Amino acid sequence: MAVIIDNSQRALKKYEAEPLAIKSQGGKFAQDFYSPFGPQIAKARLSDTLIEQLNSQVDAEFSRNESLQSGREVILPDSLVSAGGDASLGYILAQHIMGYAEETEGQKVKSLEYETLWAVSQYANTPSPMHFHSTDISGVFYLKVPELNESEACEQTRNYIGGRKAGYLNFMTGGKQAFNKSLMSVKPEVGDLYIFPGWLLHGVEAFAGEGERRSVAFNANVTF
Ligand SMILES: [Fe+2]
Repeated sequence: MAVIIDNSQRALKKYEAEPLAIKSQGGKFAQDFYSPFGPQIAKARLSDTLIEQLNSQVDAEFSRNESLQSGREVILPDSLVSAGGDASLGYILAQHIMGYAEETEGQKVKSLEYETLWAVSQYANTPSPMHFHSTDISGVFYLKVPELNESEACEQTRNYIGGRKAGYLNFMTGGKQAFNKSLMSVKPEVGDLYIFPGWLLHGVEAFAGEGERRSVAFNANVTF
């Protein structure tokens, strides 16, 4: 009996990065720099209307769970995620996730399934230690951001991830390796959405400062 091998699963094409220079060094011995390897992260901006609507809906979800205090988390119900058709959170997010998946893998997405979407409310001194997720694709977007008391001088001397870029979303892959970048930190802004592979390590160091840091995280699986 003939064995059929699915070549689409074996092709190297989807692992190939574009040889695009990310920066240039000038002067007499000028040179360009490439950084083609590593996980891909997408950033997008969600509309103010959607963010405002979600803030009220999440307020309602939290008030239904009054027993939860600082560091509150609540799973967003399907009714909230899918309400509103083309204007729903589920639909809008799915367009971004499928765009991410198709751009990074070079294949058409056949189906997308959310595992969970959940809102997280944090105040000063509540960290989310480095972790990864179990699904293909994960992401997060911000509904509220606090004032972050930042000290750049202090950041320059940090040797460990602990306490670094407090309140930022810290991505990490690899470690302290010469001629290589292994950390990227982004400051949360209301409406900013980040999509990344579920396996990519990320976390948030406990911040100092006034106000709520409210995000919605999600886990999704896709098939091609
Ligand atoms: Fe996470």
